Amino acid sequence: MDAQETFNALLEPAGRDDPYPLYAALHEFGDVIVVGPGLMLVPGYAAASSVLRDPGFKAVDAKRLDQVYPGWRDHPALNAESLLNLNGDDHARIRALFARQFTHRRVQALEPAIGGLTDALLDVMADLGAGGAPVDFMREFAFALPVTVICELIGVPEQHREGFRPLARRLTATLEPFLLDAAGLAAADAAAITLAELFADLVAERTTRPRDDLLSALVAAAAADDAQISTAELIQNLILLLVAGFETTTNLLGNGLRIILSDPTVGDGLRSGQVAAEAFADEVLRYDSPVQYTNRVPTGQAELDGVAVGPGDELVLLLGAANRDPARFADPDEFLPDRADGGPLSFGAGAHFCLGAALARLEGAIAFPRLLRRFGDLSQAGEAERRTGLVLRGFERLPVSLG
Ligand code: HEM
Repeated sequence: MDAQETFNALLEPAGRDDPYPLYAALHEFGDVIVVGPGLMLVPGYAAASSVLRDPGFKAVDAKRLDQVYPGWRDHPALNAESLLNLNGDDHARIRALFARQFTHRRVQALEPAIGGLTDALLDVMADLGAGGAPVDFMREFAFALPVTVICELIGVPEQHREGFRPLARRLTATLEPFLLDAAGLAAADAAAITLAELFADLVAERTTRPRDDLLSALVAAAAADDAQISTAELIQNLILLLVAGFETTTNLLGNGLRIILSDPTVGDGLRSGQVAAEAFADEVLRYDSPVQYTNRVPTGQAELDGVAVGPGDELVLLLGAANRDPARFADPDEFLPDRADGGPLSFGAGAHFCLGAALARLEGAIAFPRLLRRFGDLSQAGEAERRTGLVLRGFERLPVSLG
């Protein structure tokens, strides 16, 4: 297969199911590979990392969308007010406001609450799985833990949470430009409208009745005389925070459990404390990243690993491939939680580095050991079902028997 064919294979169901052999093939073609007019793949760690950190490459924003997809404003799902689609001063202005809520101290302070919640969810799993009945780990734990954590943090009432899984699934289809069809875009638009209405109601409610939550703090910031954010921007970024806050962490938990189920020695190491939970979570992120790629656009002419790129081009930064780059990681296809050469690109890098990275790692580090200590004989109970996209890698269903 040439590079173009390898890329096409990646977009096929079998390639999305297991992209790693195709990533290995892409590494043979180079760090930066032209696969179509103005379209470059970046599987190399060093090149992807430098693009993410270089202000000469920007996220796809309103200006770029005007050029490549003039009708985008008719689609609520394609808003360009979220941090992921902002650059420069607008990005810095809104990022500063949200970053204040995610300081190291604030995140660490959540540890007891996350521990308590984890144990409560394990109790529910124990009831459901009594007598050997299979339990869907994705639904009962991997989704439930992060969605509850982020909703408690933001201040989203409990009754909305169950509906967030299908809404997020529809909305995040827009992250898959190579796979998105008209029906998928229409469903994403409907989900975006539902979520925007929900947050508009919550913003109005907290404006009159503030509470001690992140939503009230941001509403107050938006209402200040020197407001750094408009209400429309606030709503779009609350949607981002909600969806980014659980969707990816759900997949960290599911992908990690799948590794444990396929190699009992990994679980034994975690149970005994021989494998540190933080190191385990970091290696899951490297080995099977919940986010497999992101995009950037050059702002001017540049040369990247010998390939000329310019403002009309689009770079697909294959984070999942960079994390398996043999030039960066020894034995990249081995799962080694004690590896000394860690540092995956799973949370991105540079200006858009994941705002929730510390929270996601904390959730992983708390959840895995508690799960394994509670259920000493955990095993897979039937076929797991993968999500079908390429960008967000994880499971739809992962049935387990609690032993
Ligand atoms: C394992 C879990 C997670 C993974 C793998 C992940 C991954 C990422 C990646 C790759 C980016 C950068 C995208 C780009 O540069 O184009 C990002 C950005 C972001 N993430 Fe996460 N994330 C995770 C968890 C979270 C959580 C728990 C939250 C919220 C509390 C969150 C909130 C955000 C936000 C707001 C951004 C946008 C930052 C910006 O554009 O300035 N993420 N995430």
